Amino acid sequence: MNIPFNSLKEQVAAERAAIEAAVERVLDSGWFLMGPELTAFEAAFAAFVGVAQAVAVANGTEAISLALRALSLAPGDEVVVPALTAPPCYHAILAAGCVPVFAEIDPRTYTLDPAAVDKVCGPRTRAVLAVHLYGRMCDLDGLAQVCREKNLLLVEDCAQAHGATDARGRTAGSVGAAAAFSFYPTKNLGALGDGGAVVTNDPGVAARLRRLRQYGEGPRYVCREPGANSRMDEIQAAVLGMRLTRLPELNARRRLLAARYAAGLAGLPLVLPPVPEEAPGHVHHLFVVRTPRRDDLAAFLKERGIGSAVHYPVPGHAQPMFTGGLAPYRAGELTATEGICAELLSLPLYPSLTEAQVDEVTAAVRAFFAS
Ligand SMILES: Cc1ncc(COP(=O)(O)O)c(C=O)c1O
Repeated sequence: MNIPFNSLKEQVAAERAAIEAAVERVLDSGWFLMGPELTAFEAAFAAFVGVAQAVAVANGTEAISLALRALSLAPGDEVVVPALTAPPCYHAILAAGCVPVFAEIDPRTYTLDPAAVDKVCGPRTRAVLAVHLYGRMCDLDGLAQVCREKNLLLVEDCAQAHGATDARGRTAGSVGAAAAFSFYPTKNLGALGDGGAVVTNDPGVAARLRRLRQYGEGPRYVCREPGANSRMDEIQAAVLGMRLTRLPELNARRRLLAARYAAGLAGLPLVLPPVPEEAPGHVHHLFVVRTPRRDDLAAFLKERGIGSAVHYPVPGHAQPMFTGGLAPYRAGELTATEGICAELLSLPLYPSLTEAQVDEVTAAVRAFFAS
């Protein structure tokens, strides 16, 4: 048995003709950056999220850092971030010159706990990075309320939540002052390399993002502020535009496989992700279970040729780059996050995984707990 943790080969094979058509269109145009494919993808993506503007950039990390800059956060301003998230979030905050403040997660949802955000805010806190982790949306109403009370900007990180919706039917990315997306190849909407985007309803923020992603220029060769080279190329835009049309179908496939796992693993001493009735808009970027026997389970699966991964083993405040004093940070009480990081395990879940493979993984997990 060999079931890798992730595999993109089958998805590429299924889409091969459409990918080749997109790439050929770009080759025939002879236009490789800042051209018609980018414009078309930005318009389609903004419409998909339900916002006025999308600005495509080079990757998801820069989407966050450029969004913070475009929202006028200044060096030294604090950004509240969940202590359980992908490490790029911390780098993005630091790249914007800001200071991460780590807050506790809600152990039921693995996303920011609004009450914890309230507790860690200080006089220099300016924004909250609401990360929709594993494909499930945060409690945006709770976070928006804290932001209103404390006069903070709400910025969404939707890198793991393309197409996710919350209990009120709002799409990930449509609520915050700005929202960042990653199109890293394994994401629900993935490029053939790196890519990212920021979406916003604020035309001023969008205009500034368009400047920041290209050397701070406006007009061309006139630099109004220090910027970056953070462009998305035409080939990635063309492929992403094609894949965007397939995203609802691919998210539905993830939901189906997640439901199959949940049914197969029911009754085991494992904390499972929420079932569809509890979180209908979940897009299952990852299928994460929790057990105090995490490392033994991962080793047991590996012996049987089944891949797994840990998202994420080290909470933000405990990352060596922070404990070594490289950057300033503040943290609240983080005992829930610390306990949870030691127990998380992600099982294989991607659209090309077959039902039979889900059943094989399920049987192996059952065998582990029976042993
Ligand atoms: C939650 C989250 N935020 C940000 C990022 C950064 O995206 P990228 O890898 O495209 O820079 C990722 C992806 O790794 C992520 O999962």
